[in-house]
Amino acid sequence: MAFNENLYKEIMEELEASQEFITEAAGAFRWDLEQGLKKSEYSSLAMLPSFIGLPEGKEKGEFLALDFGGSNVRASVVRLLGNSNFEVLNWVEKPLVTAEYNLLNSSATSEALFDFLAETVGEAAEGNKDREYYLGHTFSFGTEQEDINTARLIKWAKEIAVPGVEGEDVNALLREALVRKGYANIKPVAILNDTVALLLAAAYTYPDTRIGCIYATGYNTCYMEVMPDVGRPACIINTESGGFSKLMPSKWDLELDRASEQPGRQRLEKMVSGKYIGELFSRLIKEVFGLTEKPSFSAVDMSAIMEDSVRAGEIFGTVLGDGASDSEVIEKLRQLAKAIAIRSARIVAASWAGTLWHLAGSSKVEPQHIAVDGSLYQHMPYIQENVRRALYEIMDEEAGGLEPVLVKDGSSIGAAIAAAVATCR
Ligand code: BGC
Repeated sequence: MAFNENLYKEIMEELEASQEFITEAAGAFRWDLEQGLKKSEYSSLAMLPSFIGLPEGKEKGEFLALDFGGSNVRASVVRLLGNSNFEVLNWVEKPLVTAEYNLLNSSATSEALFDFLAETVGEAAEGNKDREYYLGHTFSFGTEQEDINTARLIKWAKEIAVPGVEGEDVNALLREALVRKGYANIKPVAILNDTVALLLAAAYTYPDTRIGCIYATGYNTCYMEVMPDVGRPACIINTESGGFSKLMPSKWDLELDRASEQPGRQRLEKMVSGKYIGELFSRLIKEVFGLTEKPSFSAVDMSAIMEDSVRAGEIFGTVLGDGASDSEVIEKLRQLAKAIAIRSARIVAASWAGTLWHLAGSSKVEPQHIAVDGSLYQHMPYIQENVRRALYEIMDEEAGGLEPVLVKDGSSIGAAIAAAVATCR
């Protein structure tokens, strides 16, 4: 197992996202965003209306929240206190894939998945089948909505492949499952994307927030659009920015895309999010060592490798054997992980900058909070500081007024706020 020095250098150069690259990307992102609003076929952004605007911070009451993300389901009871504060009263969290079951692959069924979601919600309601509950449903995939209560899944992402859900109204699937499980007392009244839920949660406390970003297993952003469509009130737009396709990919990004569940889709997401960057790292290691089999490193492994050189040596030893025990080689592999993380952060910053430029129009970008949540943003080394650095590179001193804010449990709090808006106003 020999380390190919020249190929390593070539890869490191390819992974560099220069100031010019990210500034152009931000401009192209803004262009796609504005074309997407006009439904132009040349935009790669879906620009999906959510049929909900920003909250006032006064919404009140106790609601059930269901958060269906890429790997776990969380159900909770959230009490909104009406003064920009809230309490989480009950919390149930379950994985969707374990050694015993897989509810997300192509052999799973829509009925089994939604029954599981309904049971988890029932647990959060402590099995109560009498009391009437209103439920907000955060569903972390692109959907076509007609109102706040109906959402048809366009396409699965994050490598999920459960048949029978694409094209269906996922809130109706949940409602039917709740009835099957005896919970007709639980009424799903609002459905929203996780970015939208996060923005609602952040704006409940910080009213100047206009952008919500999930930077985790998947990647996406939404923002509050002030120019309404003809005949439609202003609302938050889920951009599905993971689908942005105007970044120049490296040949390794292209290979990763070709081997994925949905080739050609979610091109930006495949360059930045947790589901894919571990895969990219694994592929590049296979290349530099000329391995016949692809090793398997996750985004969590990458974080540990970047954090600590001793731990890095252990992880490489376990996955690659003795061939990767040389400390110089280990250091190079750590630099490779770092280069992937930094590229990810810089591309993310470009998507934020493009959205901020759109919001500002011909004026200056206003100081504001940006709501962000997700495992990569929270836990991966180099991410937060490189998003900020890249924002300065793209926007200069206007970046100084931007304050990213991490909102814990934003997807659940936002689901409760959406249920409050749908039922109380
Ligand atoms: C989905 C988005 C979602 C994002 C973050 C993407 O794969 O398409 O709808 O917001 O992941 O969870």
